[in-house]
Amino acid sequence: VFNLTNRSFVKEVDFEPGELRFLLRLAEALKLAKYAGNEARRLNGKEIALVFEKTSTRTRSAFDVAAYDQGAHVTHLDPSSTQLGHKESIVDTAVVLGRMFDAIEYRGSRQADVEALAAHAGVPVYNGLTDEWHPTQMLADFLTMREVCAKPYDSISYAFVGDCRFNMARSTLVMGALMGSDVRLAGPNDLHPPRDVIDLAAAVAGRTGARVTVTDDVDAAVSGVDFVHTDVWVSMGESKDVWAERVRLLAPYQVNTELLRRTGNQAAKFMHCLPAFHDKNTTVGREIMEHTGMDSGLEVTDDVFRSAASIVFDQAENRLHTIKALLVATLG
Ligand code: CP
Ligand code: NVA
Repeated sequence: VFNLTNRSFVKEVDFEPGELRFLLRLAEALKLAKYAGNEARRLNGKEIALVFEKTSTRTRSAFDVAAYDQGAHVTHLDPSSTQLGHKESIVDTAVVLGRMFDAIEYRGSRQADVEALAAHAGVPVYNGLTDEWHPTQMLADFLTMREVCAKPYDSISYAFVGDCRFNMARSTLVMGALMGSDVRLAGPNDLHPPRDVIDLAAAVAGRTGARVTVTDDVDAAVSGVDFVHTDVWVSMGESKDVWAERVRLLAPYQVNTELLRRTGNQAAKFMHCLPAFHDKNTTVGREIMEHTGMDSGLEVTDDVFRSAASIVFDQAENRLHTIKALLVATLG
């Protein structure tokens, strides 16, 4: 048993591999208890601040429902209705929120901001996504991979294909290193993670026995893997002007039926943190797809997204169970 009381989670390496495994086991138990209707409330009376400087469907809902299931209350804060960002510094905000709340979730652009919150709040701070890391998503992704392929984490192999510079790719690389997995990133050479992130993953892999690969070669990345992950080609906060160039660079990395076939594994599954641009049912997706002529989807084709290989909605549900485990372990 690990004691994670009062610990923050602002990036994957904040927790040791044993602590991450403990959180994942706790998530499995909490999921079973919820399904069985006998979940115990371990967060009665706790007050949790949820700060969203960027939009969210899954992360926000997962924190809300996890808190309510466990007897805690949540308060939502964003820049348009608070002093945050424009009239009050992160440090002052951290101290104020720490005087009122038992824990704080923060989603925004800058990793430095969530780290400043954690340094000054005096209560646990959780990173609900920054441009650099998406650690709570990693808990859901690993729980989902484990449920689907029933291998130990250190026997799972997976590839992430696409833009490897942003939160999802970086987190996927480092989390795989922590869990001892065979993790491979594939994207154009100009869109690889920065050197410090590759070095961090390599250093962690040296301790855990993980295999980490960063390449521009799709076949080298996907050959034999259990899972293929991707993410949007343009992230929140980026300009619409980059779409044309991004599509040009990333089209060879689109997850389509042919790319899944190149895994050589008929059981390979498709994963995406969502939201995804796979059809024209969103204003942004429709505009880009019509502008670029990529009618069957952007980072993933609609047929793969809707296929039996796609486990994206299991991933989404597991945001709830894993975020609940994080809350219970650090506050319960
Ligand atoms: N995957 C994820 O973080 O989704 P939201 O942006 O909807 O929270
Ligand atoms: N890379 C995406 C992930 C969304 C959950 C973004 O930052 O917009």
